[in-house]
Amino acid sequence: MEKTLIILKPSCVQRALVGQVINRFQRKGLTIAGMKMMQLDEQILREHYAHLVDKPFFPSLLRSMMATPVIVMCLVGKEVVSVVRAMVGATNSRVAAPGTIRGDYGMSGQENIVHASDSPENGDIEVARFFKPDEIFTYQPITTPAIYNDQERNY
Ligand code: TYD
Repeated sequence: MEKTLIILKPSCVQRALVGQVINRFQRKGLTIAGMKMMQLDEQILREHYAHLVDKPFFPSLLRSMMATPVIVMCLVGKEVVSVVRAMVGATNSRVAAPGTIRGDYGMSGQENIVHASDSPENGDIEVARFFKPDEIFTYQPITTPAIYNDQERNY
């Protein structure tokens, strides 16, 4: 089953947007397979943002991501990675399309409310980075037949 790792960043927590952002994912029909609050540290952020450690903005990104605890979530659903990336919008919130989470709630490239995995492979890797196996739950919501048809449901 395809998974994506969501981080409700300190910008989301500080601005009290946690409920609104989670509500968007639930209204869409995605299933929450795991969710918890945690304080990120430099070690996990150096792994998570390994592709950015040499960028000049990395120290600022580290400070930003450690500013408060964050909410981490594992969402599942058919093609959930691409569905959620479309919902989240472009990295820079000022150019993210209206209707996307960043486009509706943000004004910053760095304080951009949410992280979402960018490929199914990274979804698996990132969920394993932030969750223990017994923190991820497999269950079939009773709404499933109203969200997917018979073929779509076998994702
Ligand atoms: P990246 O993985 O490129 O984008 P995304 O979060 O959309 O997958 O970058 C990770 C985070 O690094 C991004 O959400 C915010 C921060 N960032 C900056 O602060 N400045 C930048 O120029 C870039 C590219 C990213």
